[in-house]
Amino acid sequence: MDKFLIEGGVPLEGEIEVSGAKNSALPALAACLLTEEPVTLRRIPLVRDVQTMLQLLERCGASVHSEDGVLRVQAAEIVHPEAPYELVKTMRASSLVLGPLAARCGRARVSLPGGCAIGARPINLHLAGLEQLGARLSQEHGYIVAEAPNGLRGATVHFDRITVTGTEDLLMAAVLAEGETVLSNAAREPEVVDLAALLTQMGARIEGAGTSTIRVQGVRRLHGADHAIIADRIEAGTFLIAGAITRGRLVVRRCEPAHLTSLLHKLRQAGVEVTEAGPDTLAVRVPGKLISVDATTEEYPGFATDLQAQYMALMTQAHGISIITETIFENRFMHVLELARMGANIRVEGRQAIVAGPTPLSGAAVIASDLRASASLVLAGLAARGQTVLDRVYHIDRGYEKIEEKLARAGARIRRISEL
Ligand code: EPU
Repeated sequence: MDKFLIEGGVPLEGEIEVSGAKNSALPALAACLLTEEPVTLRRIPLVRDVQTMLQLLERCGASVHSEDGVLRVQAAEIVHPEAPYELVKTMRASSLVLGPLAARCGRARVSLPGGCAIGARPINLHLAGLEQLGARLSQEHGYIVAEAPNGLRGATVHFDRITVTGTEDLLMAAVLAEGETVLSNAAREPEVVDLAALLTQMGARIEGAGTSTIRVQGVRRLHGADHAIIADRIEAGTFLIAGAITRGRLVVRRCEPAHLTSLLHKLRQAGVEVTEAGPDTLAVRVPGKLISVDATTEEYPGFATDLQAQYMALMTQAHGISIITETIFENRFMHVLELARMGANIRVEGRQAIVAGPTPLSGAAVIASDLRASASLVLAGLAARGQTVLDRVYHIDRGYEKIEEKLARAGARIRRISEL
């Protein structure tokens, strides 16, 4: 298992380039199952979750070619319309193939996800939506089987709570369903909009993506497309916080500032100077003291849960008390105890973490429990005095493309130790 060795205390200087969004790449890859024609996808980040999704597509019968960072996926024939337990257990987002497989093949067999480090994370809303589109569902041996031998039928699907991959899954089912589908209380995340752009290029008829009501007119078939996915807003946000927590001067390139509005607002309130150095470039520096600012996670365009852990690391260095409230997942404070071992003063009360700062951080041996928790420990390690050894780096490799190399190019003293 690989580890990161971090020597903290070096302000980051220079430029870092953002990769394509993992959470856009995953549904885009699942969408390739909707057509027998080839789909070309650009700017797909080479992270472990993408590799897991590619394995899943290949298992379904698709062929995958990768050249110079461009992926070409062709699902000429679906041999196994199935997401097996071995893949779903390593990546919940495997359930994104449920909608496309049911729509294209009239049958899908997908393992139910179990618990995960950040909470229960069921897919009941995906299933209820598919049933409304006319799929018959049954459960056997830990798998959900969806059957629609005569195809799916358009319907109105209301999500009881906002779900990102649920919206994406149902959108992919609806594009090939007969007639009109209305998705209400849909997720408005940029990744949903990006998926809709890809599907539209494939011949789908979609209106309203990016709002909470999405209307789809089903079509009989979809064709190939060539699509570049959007910048990873969570990776960009992580780097902006890295610049701020090390009190450096960091330029983050190839990002989409419009997708980062709520984070930028918080950072500016906290005393971080963020400037738009170009249409896709942001620069950060901290001219004075960092000030504590509360944050509550919400669905987009609110403050992203995927940045909560990283923001908490920053707040350990801010003057005052900040209250960080997690409303999306019930168990997403696993980084708190590790941050505390590095010297942070944080108390958890239910869904709130109360951070008192600033406290000097000192390097320590820490263990990450999930992707974003790992990112927050890397940030804390960069700000800490002395050496931090971060174990279980495979969590960070799920969603960050060569993070240690990118940070090192901006002066961070971080390296990967590979252990057999
Ligand atoms: N939920 C249900 N039933 C469902 C679906 C969701 O109760 O059928 C609940 C979840 O348990 C959670 C809430 O609804 O409490 C929101 O979950 P959502 O479905 O929106 O999350 P997701 O689609 O599984 C995506 C991202 C996550 C990100 C969340 C929230 C992908 C592949 N994953 O997950 O990303 O945290 O949206 O924004 O898009 C990450 O990248 O580190 C990550 C965890």
